[in-house]
Amino acid sequence: MQTKNIINTNMKLWKIALMAMTVSVAGQAENVFVNTPKTTLMLNVNEGHTPRISYYGSRIDAAQAHEVYEAGAVNGEAYPAFGRNSFDETALSVTHADGNMSTELAVTGWRTEGDMTVITMKDRKYNFFVDLCYKAGEGSDVIETWTVIRNGEKKAVKMEQYASGVMTFRQEGAWLTHFHGAWGQEAGMTEEPLTEGLKTIVNYDGVRTAMGDRAEVMLSLDGKPQENSGRVIGAALCWTGNYRLRIETRGKYRHTLLAGIDGLHTTYTLKPGETFTTPVLAMTYSEEGKGGVSRAFHRWGRNGQLHNGKALREILLNSWEGVYMNVNQEVCEQMMDGIKELGGELFVVDDGWFGRKYRRTHDDKALGDWVTDTVKLPKGVPALVKAAEDRGLKFGIWIEPEMVNSTSELYEAHPDWVVAHPTRELSKGRGGTQLVLDLSNPKVQDFVVSIVANLMKENPTLHYIKWDCNMSMQNFGSSYLTADRQSHLFVDYHLGLRNVLERIRKDYPELVIQLCSSGGGRVNWGAMPYFDEFWVSDDTDAQQRLFIQWGTSHFFPPMAMAQHVSASPNHQTGRVIPLKFRFDVAMTGRLGMEMKPSDLNEKEKEYAKKAVAFYKEIRPIVQLGDLYRLLSPYDNKGFCSEMFVTEDKSEAVFFCYKFENYIGLETPRWHMAGLDPDAKYQLNEFGSTERNSRFEGKTFTGRFLMETGIEARLGRQFASRVIRLKRV
Ligand code: GLA
Repeated sequence: MQTKNIINTNMKLWKIALMAMTVSVAGQAENVFVNTPKTTLMLNVNEGHTPRISYYGSRIDAAQAHEVYEAGAVNGEAYPAFGRNSFDETALSVTHADGNMSTELAVTGWRTEGDMTVITMKDRKYNFFVDLCYKAGEGSDVIETWTVIRNGEKKAVKMEQYASGVMTFRQEGAWLTHFHGAWGQEAGMTEEPLTEGLKTIVNYDGVRTAMGDRAEVMLSLDGKPQENSGRVIGAALCWTGNYRLRIETRGKYRHTLLAGIDGLHTTYTLKPGETFTTPVLAMTYSEEGKGGVSRAFHRWGRNGQLHNGKALREILLNSWEGVYMNVNQEVCEQMMDGIKELGGELFVVDDGWFGRKYRRTHDDKALGDWVTDTVKLPKGVPALVKAAEDRGLKFGIWIEPEMVNSTSELYEAHPDWVVAHPTRELSKGRGGTQLVLDLSNPKVQDFVVSIVANLMKENPTLHYIKWDCNMSMQNFGSSYLTADRQSHLFVDYHLGLRNVLERIRKDYPELVIQLCSSGGGRVNWGAMPYFDEFWVSDDTDAQQRLFIQWGTSHFFPPMAMAQHVSASPNHQTGRVIPLKFRFDVAMTGRLGMEMKPSDLNEKEKEYAKKAVAFYKEIRPIVQLGDLYRLLSPYDNKGFCSEMFVTEDKSEAVFFCYKFENYIGLETPRWHMAGLDPDAKYQLNEFGSTERNSRFEGKTFTGRFLMETGIEARLGRQFASRVIRLKRV
């Protein structure tokens, strides 16, 4: 096997090489290296042949390529197409203009330019082209892959399957970690060995890509997944619509992940000359366990994939659980006074502020009519903005712009704007009247953009929007799409959404926008470039939040996770949990509150003030640092723990919780992670209710804290402790 490196492996030379464009040499197999600082994806590319994945793992240099082959390369097809030798799962399946359902892709060339590597392919017989793209920069260890599919034939080609990317590896005893859930129980984690056969993870919601299963998986190569050790591949499909992830396991421990838009009911037609760009599949590889994968994704987010990923997030009060739809000027001002007193920075009015002909007093009307309900708010939104700003707070507002109630002025004016087939009776969602607007229609896209534009015109200092989305496509059909393109709806809805979000971001780059979808029903990296944060779950019970936030943090950065302290007893579960525990659980993400502050007694208020002030101190560590999950709530020990460490390892903050209660439940010894082993750290505990503070103000080496650990006892159920570490 002849090899030729395209990217010099020496870091300096690598940078120089990246600046130059590299093109293919015909007629010989070559190794194409897609490198990140710590990882390498190596592809074997040969003109006239199908490209193959040879290696994905820790960074190697070209001189080591022979080791890959001599040891036995993975040798999986990088983008298998249906029709020739396709007895395994395929990434691409199309019907060509003449009815031929088989495709045979062969490499025509490859090039590397900047951080992009593109392998160009063409069907051996047809003018049908696929570019296989990889993007890998120095900023993170995440590789992005996608394809650009072009129809050069004389008539339309129909695509039934058009995955974004493929990854193959060989390893016995590999495990899969995946996430699933429903309203109020998002990001439930399942970890299972990969066994022979096909594991499929899909979403059919049509609108809410994370309602149910999530589009992110981890593949652990060293048996049962560990937090901070072992080799793990992480993969996330970045798409807001229906998707399908397949993990096929065949003999000789060969595992293949294929991920992309779900092709079911979604045959996509490409007219002659048309191209289709598949969404990104983002992947990383780590030798530091699942935690290493998480940290790579978090960093990738902060470095660009999360909107405004370097800015600290504000502490806010959201009105929902405080007053639900009973908002009015007076009650909002009371809540503003409350959050101001506690040290908060932003007030967000949730659902219930709008509707004139049909007033939003209940969830069965007014979606679509984004005008103030002047009975509740006689002076409109500007008076709320002013009231907030008079108190030194910023102001935010809730909208659900992709939706309409059939009881609304919008629906009366535009019944054809909803997703539905005109011949069918409508199936309605929330409130018995909710419907989805048809975002494949450019006029509907304009309308959705205008909702934000009008709010901004009326309230130029509006700081924050909570963008909600509470329904699936219960009806199927579009009055806008032609009869032969009805099967484009599941895709075109989301291309329309992307267009809307891009237009809004172009005009309002500074606006903070929260992604919400019946809680965390739309959490996906396909959305996050447009959003600053997301609502993790409508379940604000701190005990359940430990699990929900644990799962969510596997792929999404804590700075983007909206975590609110709510009332006790909790409105969803009725559970009574002390305020300290509720704060300590909420503090591991973007802290907020979701209650009437006036419901707190004086002692609680004093505590809340201290907690908010403390959070402001640790905010840069939590929001911009690295997360190390330590003890999983899924371990059935009744405890949970995690910590955050700044990138320079000079500061850290450690959290531990006890959420079970039975006699004899011993607190574990806490072993920290992520610290500089040779540095000394001073420990200071925040707001402990425990007497055990023998380490208060004492110093320890990072090595000792990680290897030997500390005893920080947790007494009763819902005891929790937060310890700050500073390098001395
Ligand atoms: C959804 C959201 C909630 C709240 C309500 C308002 O359920 O997840 O946070 O905004 O809508 O109707």
